[in-house]
Amino acid sequence: MGRVDNGVEMIESFLDKAKVSGPNRRNLKIHDAIAPLYDFPYDLYDFLSRGGIKRERLSYLQELEIKPDSAVLEVAVGTGANLRYLPETASYFGLDISLGMLKKCQKNLIRWGRKARLFQGEAENLPFDNSTFDVVFHMGGIDSFSDRAKAIKEMVRVAKPGAKLLIAGETEMPFKVKSAPKITPAALLPSGMENIEFEETRGLRLYCLTFRKPSN
Ligand SMILES: C[S@@+](CC[C@H](N)C(=O)[O-])C[C@H]1O[C@@H](n2cnc3c(N)ncnc32)[C@H](O)[C@@H]1O
Repeated sequence: MGRVDNGVEMIESFLDKAKVSGPNRRNLKIHDAIAPLYDFPYDLYDFLSRGGIKRERLSYLQELEIKPDSAVLEVAVGTGANLRYLPETASYFGLDISLGMLKKCQKNLIRWGRKARLFQGEAENLPFDNSTFDVVFHMGGIDSFSDRAKAIKEMVRVAKPGAKLLIAGETEMPFKVKSAPKITPAALLPSGMENIEFEETRGLRLYCLTFRKPSN
């Protein structure tokens, strides 16, 4: 993983587009279409609110336990908006279903002078070995995934024992997603998770769920 071409990390694809179905298929199409313009409304609102979006993101990101040598995975990384606010010393990995969003993320990373390895794939089938990452997080999008429970199980699988995980999802969807279930994501956690904390609403209309994978 992490091939380099012209000094830029290549995006590695683990997605068989023909096999993507249901809500994920729709997510893929929508995000590929909106990727070029995705950042504009957020950047505009951030400017008008004097850093309001940045403050909101930091209020979640401060929950992450990132050490200088941590390997950090963001599931559904989008255009990388969170990565620019995280400590530079750690190693970053971003996965998303949409190649359009990942290409925008790659451009952003170059513009910000930041580095991350980017992967195209489904959150429900992460292309990483068990217990690979010190930190695993997701912000925005999970409630439109085809299978939320499977995606959460995958996040837990690739996290190292003892790792803290964070999942922030929309309390209100920006567009109607028929299959988004109304059950709390805390109820979808695999059994045995520790230190489970769930906040119904925070800024950005997101809930915040944090928990720890057991150490043994
Ligand atoms: C609302 S954006 C959030 C992006 C980023 N995390 C942020 O905070 O700005 C949701 C992202 O989820 C991605 N996505 C949707 N379904 C997915 C799935 N099943 N697996 C991986 N990524 C998915 C979309 O392509 C999109 O980039």
